[in-house]
Amino acid sequence: MLKLNVNVSRSYDITITKGFSGLSAAAEKFCGGKIALITDENVDKLFSDDVLNELKGFEVVKFVIEAGEKSKNGENFLSLVNGLAEHGFQRRDAVFALGGGVVGDLAGFTASAYMRGITLVAVPTSLLAAVDSSVGGKTAIDLPAGKNLCGSFYQPFAVYINADCFRTLPQKEKKNGLGEVVKYALLDRRVTLESMLEGFDEQLVYDCLSVKRDVVQADEFEGGKRMILNLGHTVGHAVEKLADYTLSHGECVAKGLAAAIAVSKKLYGLSGSEVEKMRKVLTVCDFDLSLGFGADEISDCISRDKKSEGDEVNFVALKGIGEPRIEKIKIKELRKILSEYYGN
Ligand SMILES: NC(=O)c1ccc[n+]([C@@H]2O[C@H](COP(=O)([O-])OP(=O)(O)OC[C@H]3O[C@@H](n4cnc5c(N)ncnc54)[C@H](O)[C@@H]3O)[C@@H](O)[C@H]2O)c1
Repeated sequence: MLKLNVNVSRSYDITITKGFSGLSAAAEKFCGGKIALITDENVDKLFSDDVLNELKGFEVVKFVIEAGEKSKNGENFLSLVNGLAEHGFQRRDAVFALGGGVVGDLAGFTASAYMRGITLVAVPTSLLAAVDSSVGGKTAIDLPAGKNLCGSFYQPFAVYINADCFRTLPQKEKKNGLGEVVKYALLDRRVTLESMLEGFDEQLVYDCLSVKRDVVQADEFEGGKRMILNLGHTVGHAVEKLADYTLSHGECVAKGLAAAIAVSKKLYGLSGSEVEKMRKVLTVCDFDLSLGFGADEISDCISRDKKSEGDEVNFVALKGIGEPRIEKIKIKELRKILSEYYGN
């Protein structure tokens, strides 16, 4: 069992282990009464019985949502807060979010808003949720006008990761999480190629979360430093959008990371061997690194993104592995570099 402390506006521990046997301890420590177990239909079938078994002795009310991004909506949010009210949930009661990032964001937002905030225990079951959502305290629902448009910063009271859960993840979902893992491996030398090759074990999750924890502790509310976590995401998001969300987020991040390496080579005049070392982190994980879209389409999409500032964008580049830098770069300059590598 590994433990990682996150010390932000709330100090909390992330437990990374196998099995659910520590969950009752978290419930005893943080919950004075009832538990709302919020999960999705896939995760419910796989893990709810084990979790309920661990929480024997507690009054648990289970809420099951449909699986998938479309469930992260205002209707489900209202139905969950109304459900908590109907079951008489009080501030000393707790929400347990059992599932991937969709459940994590929706249940987290529910916990943050109900009675202006009740106890939240996150139990991420997807690799992406474990290595990304566990730290940072972001909760959200999607609005018709856009993804994650309504949400809050709300830190959990505890995070409990059962690494055995990753075994049942479909290959596509593993790849989805791996996109963020390789991002950490480029951002910080604590996540090594060797540890990635050993599989999704507790140590790999711990190393990824240590990287994110350090960044978030330095910049809890996204004042600036946290921007380095966007490595690979400028081009990655554009590809995700242009492909009409048919590719997973992780696959698009990997493509965006390859583009970030190409841009970094140009910006800093990196040597061929340095570039090769960086690309190996991506190729060893078998990602398709082609963009699938030309430089014109990608840069037009970036210029329409709300994160762009006029004709410039804050781009996370790499001076080497573990040496991220935020560069304000003109979108037309980005277009030129991308077209040299990928064509128009
Ligand atoms: N709050 C944050 O910091 C943060 C960070 C990254 C992503 N997110 C959000 O997370 C969401 C994406 O997360 P996701 O990729 O986990 O999506 P998801 O929650 O939809 O899970 C993906 C699929 O895997 C299934 N699943 C989850 N765990 C499983 C397991 N152990 N075995 C088998 N199937 C399992 C789910 O039922 C779902 O069908 C997006 O909405 C994104 O915005 C939030």
